[in-house]
Amino acid sequence: MDEAPVRLVNVHKRFGSLVVLDGVSFDIPLGQTTAIIGPSGTGKSVMLKHIVGLIRPDQGEVRVFGTDMARAPERDVYAVRRRLGMLFQDGALFDSLSTGDNIAFPLKQHFPQLSERERRERVEEVLEMVELPGLYDRPTPALSGGQRKRVGLARAIVTRPELVLFDEPNSGLDPMTSDAIDALIGHLKETLHVTFVVITHDIVGTINVADHIAMLYQGKLVAWGPKDEVVRSDQEIVRRFLGRNLVLPEPGTVGPARLPSM
Ligand SMILES: Nc1ncnc2c1ncn2[C@@H]1O[C@H](COP(=O)(O)OP(=O)(O)O)[C@@H](O)[C@H]1O
Ligand SMILES: [Mg+2]
Repeated sequence: MDEAPVRLVNVHKRFGSLVVLDGVSFDIPLGQTTAIIGPSGTGKSVMLKHIVGLIRPDQGEVRVFGTDMARAPERDVYAVRRRLGMLFQDGALFDSLSTGDNIAFPLKQHFPQLSERERRERVEEVLEMVELPGLYDRPTPALSGGQRKRVGLARAIVTRPELVLFDEPNSGLDPMTSDAIDALIGHLKETLHVTFVVITHDIVGTINVADHIAMLYQGKLVAWGPKDEVVRSDQEIVRRFLGRNLVLPEPGTVGPARLPSM
């Protein structure tokens, strides 16, 4: 497939008089990890919700696997959703379900033909991937903040999606747990070979796993490109946002990332 898995074309979105997205266009490259950065309240989550079809643009187009998420029939949108996994910013776990049943939820929804045993196996498998083996029956309220994030990650990958979207996987975590989640994302990226989109306002760490960076600011994409280029950008706003915390990769350790053909 030549087309980028996600393509935004001149996307505009406002809530009342609040302009949130003001003409955003870009392609998310296949098989790579794109970090979407920007200050709080700048429209990152709104953009992600456009990608999964939960919010429709006022103007412009959001194509996922070639499907126009705002205009395609419900059936086609649903077929696209089967191919993606999402970690919501607030985790969105059901406290009434066990850990394992939370993770099994999208499997039941999108792959009802799986047997109970197959489903359980799949869940056990992703629990191991997020380093929570044996926690299937743990009541969700008994999980720590870091464990909840891991369970959210497990739920996002359990359907073996081609496109994985993480909204603020580190938010609300202490620095050590946050680093552990970053390491885990890096590991998932290496093992799964899928297209990752990671939203963050906390650049340290997450940026280390990114191949591409898109920076959203006041409704516009102010920077977009291979990580090496964006972190060296001399744009004032990008510099101010990245600050001094950023650890630049050693020269030569990161290959030149490819931009999708337009
Ligand atoms: N459904 C909604 N209705 C009205 N305003 C919204 C809605 N969703 C988000 N907003 C507003 O849009 C702006 C961008 O929000 P958001 O995308 O969540 O920011 P962030 O970049 O922190 O993820 C914020 O001002 C937020 O209050
Ligand atoms: Mg957000």
